[in-house]
Amino acid sequence: MTRKRVLSGMQPSGFLHLGNLMGALDNWRKLQDQYECYYFIADWHALTTNYADTSKIRTYVREMVIDWLSAGLDPEKAVLFQQSHIPEHAVLHVLLSMSTPLPWLERVPTYKEKIEQIQDKDMNTYGFLGYPVLQAADILIYKAHFVPVGVDQLPHLELTREIGRRFDQFYGEVFPEPQPLMTEYPKLPGTDGRKMSKSYNNCLYLSDSPEVITKKVMAMVTDPARVRRQDPGNPDVCPLFTLDKIFAPKEWCDHVNVECRRAGIGCVDDKKELLKHLLAYLAPIQEKRKELVAKPGRITEIIAEGSSKARAVAQKTLAEVNEAMKL
Ligand code: TRP
Repeated sequence: MTRKRVLSGMQPSGFLHLGNLMGALDNWRKLQDQYECYYFIADWHALTTNYADTSKIRTYVREMVIDWLSAGLDPEKAVLFQQSHIPEHAVLHVLLSMSTPLPWLERVPTYKEKIEQIQDKDMNTYGFLGYPVLQAADILIYKAHFVPVGVDQLPHLELTREIGRRFDQFYGEVFPEPQPLMTEYPKLPGTDGRKMSKSYNNCLYLSDSPEVITKKVMAMVTDPARVRRQDPGNPDVCPLFTLDKIFAPKEWCDHVNVECRRAGIGCVDDKKELLKHLLAYLAPIQEKRKELVAKPGRITEIIAEGSSKARAVAQKTLAEVNEAMKL
């Protein structure tokens, strides 16, 4: 019995944090036992926003693979590869771009938003408009059945289906329709109480040492109305309590839920307890990370091996595409 194929990608635009772990990586890790999984480093996609400064991209690529492996992605189970090592993605991108109507791209909700939002870079580029076409090529070239993504990516996936359908209408059936595998994990709060995001500088990173994690958690924002130890607090608005509910045992959460409200425990007590569980959770990841950092050659090898496996699949699809288009 052949397993259904899963594909997903991540941009190498920084170190991975706890929110990436709980929101995506943990899910990817589980899927690798059930499906034929392809996970890739979307380095070309990272260029759409960071084309002017590529000085960090190699570091981010390698660190991301280290984060992936530390979090349990297994190159024996899943194909881990780098987009720029598979030129077939670019070829399919160009072919799909021929039949993709411009208005389809201009109406992507994130497109205009981002153009307005990002002020420090010129996002009025051909590459950025074509971002979803490249993403469609990534997905279709592996004939993926499922694409694990968060809600923000649903419009891209819908567009992928439309682009694939349009191709099939013109040239005959080649592409299956990929379905999202929704991974709705509540956003983790960062140390300042806003959602954890590298642009807010409020992250707990997988690459942080226990000392750094401890420092960050001890400085974390709690219920802003609880100023002094003797003030009663409200766990419902406390970002620390949100992390408790994920990493601490239920008994502790129940305890906090009662005691915080009558100033029976302080934030520092809660932080210390959370740290015990959080550090225990992160320990094997940090351990694995240390091992991997010491073996840089291994990372290069894993990317090369995965990319060569992926490339064979991509070449096969591209041959079918060329045949269908009579090229
Ligand atoms: N756009 C995705 C993101 O920013 C990354 C990505 C690129 C991707 N190609 C993909 C995700 C193909 C899934 C499938 O998160």
